[in-house]
This record gives sequence, structure tokens and C-alpha cells, in this order.
Amino acid sequence: MARAMTGAGERVVVLDDLSAGVPARLPADVPLVEGSSLDAGLLEHVLGEHAVTGVVHLAAHKQVAESVARPTRYYRENVGGLATLLETVAAAGVRRFVFSSSAAVYGNPDVDLITENTPCAPVNPYGETKLAGEWLVRAAGRAHGMATVCLRYFNVAGAAEPALADTGVFNIVPMVFDRLTRNEAPRIFGDDYPTPDGTCVRDYIHVADLAEAHLAAARRLSAPDAAGDLTVNIGRGEGVSVRELVTLIGEVTGDTRAALVEGRRPGDAPRAVASAALAASELGWTARRGVREMVESAWRGWSAHHGATSAPAR
Ligand SMILES: NC(=O)c1ccc[n+]([C@@H]2O[C@H](COP(=O)([O-])OP(=O)(O)OC[C@H]3O[C@@H](n4cnc5c(N)ncnc54)[C@H](O)[C@@H]3O)[C@@H](O)[C@H]2O)c1
Repeated sequence: MARAMTGAGERVVVLDDLSAGVPARLPADVPLVEGSSLDAGLLEHVLGEHAVTGVVHLAAHKQVAESVARPTRYYRENVGGLATLLETVAAAGVRRFVFSSSAAVYGNPDVDLITENTPCAPVNPYGETKLAGEWLVRAAGRAHGMATVCLRYFNVAGAAEPALADTGVFNIVPMVFDRLTRNEAPRIFGDDYPTPDGTCVRDYIHVADLAEAHLAAARRLSAPDAAGDLTVNIGRGEGVSVRELVTLIGEVTGDTRAALVEGRRPGDAPRAVASAALAASELGWTARRGVREMVESAWRGWSAHHGATSAPAR
């Protein structure tokens, strides 16, 4: 986001408690303030010192399993931190706010395309904190005359550049890379779902497209008549099965070994694909990068971090 915004000519200041953030990833000319969204005094100081006119709130904890084990941490940081931030932002007279929400707010709806009107029914504390966060953002926007956008990201993948690659092994693309790098077959959890090839279907979005969606949201809020709240899905509207993705990863890495099919994981929905129509009409934004580009860019990043140029031979 910081790189996309400075590249688009915006001035940016970043506040991050470095619980997961890596300072070296920031462009050299972007100031970093180390601190928490729960620290009202610090927020007040930063907003004033940098004459902030808009906020993009990305800071959150995001591991579903951890949110089940430590729900109070997730509510305190993701919801409590947001409440503190909104209070200080409103008091500082900031009138533009973009919030990172998630497809996790929907839970597991049984629909072909998830629209923003699909009922929200999160199935874990992480998703609950995102839904509660949206309520809070919209209520604070109404109360304080702040224009707001909540972006519900679907499955984020890819790397905008190798240095910014995801180094965690929590999502499917790095999980498959990790298996191949260990000379092990990728795993597929369940191939008996009611989908065309029996594996789960998801909607993948390139992180660089996601950054552009935030820019589009920020620009929309910069319009002189910007008002009210907007909640939009950020996806491609295209379903890709786990089997298709694993096959594509094999093509990109050159390691086409057969996947190992294991049992279903609890809580996995058969299908979760966004309707991307509202983002197009309201933000004038549509994803430009396809799934192959996501996998190729992620693989370049993985190779840069792990010193591999191709998967090991079997
Ligand atoms: N990555 C995804 O697939 C995905 C999908 C849907 C939604 N999201 C949401 O997007 C946002 C960004 O996700 P990401 O993948 O870049 O995660 P990330 O962990 O890389 O980035 C979150 C950043 O917030 C910081 N942070 C966490 N709690 C903080 C606090 N209380 N105060 C200050 N800083 C804090 C961390 O140090 C980290 O740098 C999150 O809100 C996440 O819930 C991510």
C-alpha cells in the first residue's frame, strides 16, 4: 500500500506495532512510527504532526486458528484498536477512512457468487472482528461525518515484487511451495466437495490489484462530494479450484508431482467466489492480474527468500 500510494504521488506515514511488520519493506522516504492502534496519545500526535487527511486501516491480526485460541486478543486489537483509532481520527477532523475487511465476514454461504447483500455469518472470531469492525466504521462515519469504505478482500495471493513476498506459510500458494521445496507432494484437503473437480473453489486476487483497489477507494473518498459509507467485495469474480491451482503451481515451478489427497479440513466452504460488480461500478476498479501472474510473482518472491530457482528434483 505504501509503495502504491507513494507511486501514485500521495504522501504517506505508516504506524505499525511491528508485531508482524518488517520496516525494511517500506520505501526509504516513508516515515514509520512504531506503535499500536491502541495508543490514543501516539495516534493523536501522529495525525497532527503529519497533517493526516485520510486513513487506510490495515493493522490487524489475521490468523483464523489463533483467533479461535485467543479471541480476546483479536477483539482487543482488531476491534478495540479500531475504536481507539476512529476516536482519534474523528477528533483530528479526518474525514476519509478505508478499512481492510475480509470475505471472512460471510462465513460459508451456499451461493454461486457472493454479493455484498449476501448475509454475513462469520464462523470464527477473526471474521467476527472484521464484521464488528465494519459496524464500528459505519457507525463512526455516520456520527462524525466521515466518508468510509470497507473492502472485503477475498483470497489474496502473489507479490508486487519479490522483496515484498509473503514469507508466512498460512495460505495455499506458499503452503504448496513449502511442500515442493521440502521435496514433498502438495496436499489437497478433500476432493469430494460438490464442485466440478471435487476440490474447494476460491476467488484469488493479486496483492498488487488489491493495493490498487485501496487507491481507488482513497480517490473516491477524495471527491469533493464524498459522503456516506460503501462496502465492497474485492475479488475477481472467477472461481479457481484447489486442484486447478495446484496444477498451475506445478507448471510454474516445473515440479508437476501428483498431489496427495487428504480428508476435508473442518470449516472449509466448498465455494467462495465474489461478485466483483459493485467494486467496478462504485470504485471504477477491476482486477487486472490473473492467477498465473499471482503464482509466478509469488514463486519469484519465494525463490528470492528461500534461495530456490526451481523446485528440487524428485
Ligand atoms: N492477507 C489476506 O489474505 C487478507 C485477507 C482479508 C483481509 N485481510 C486484512 O488485511 C489487513 C492486512 O493484512 P496483511 O495480510 O497485510 O497482514 P500483515 O500481518 O502483513 O499486516 C498487518 C500489519 O498490522 C500490524 N499490526 C497488527 N496489529 C496492530 C496494532 N494493534 N497496532 C499497530 N499495528 C498492528 C502488524 O505488525 C502488520 O505489519 C488485515 O486487516 C487483514 O485482516 C488480509
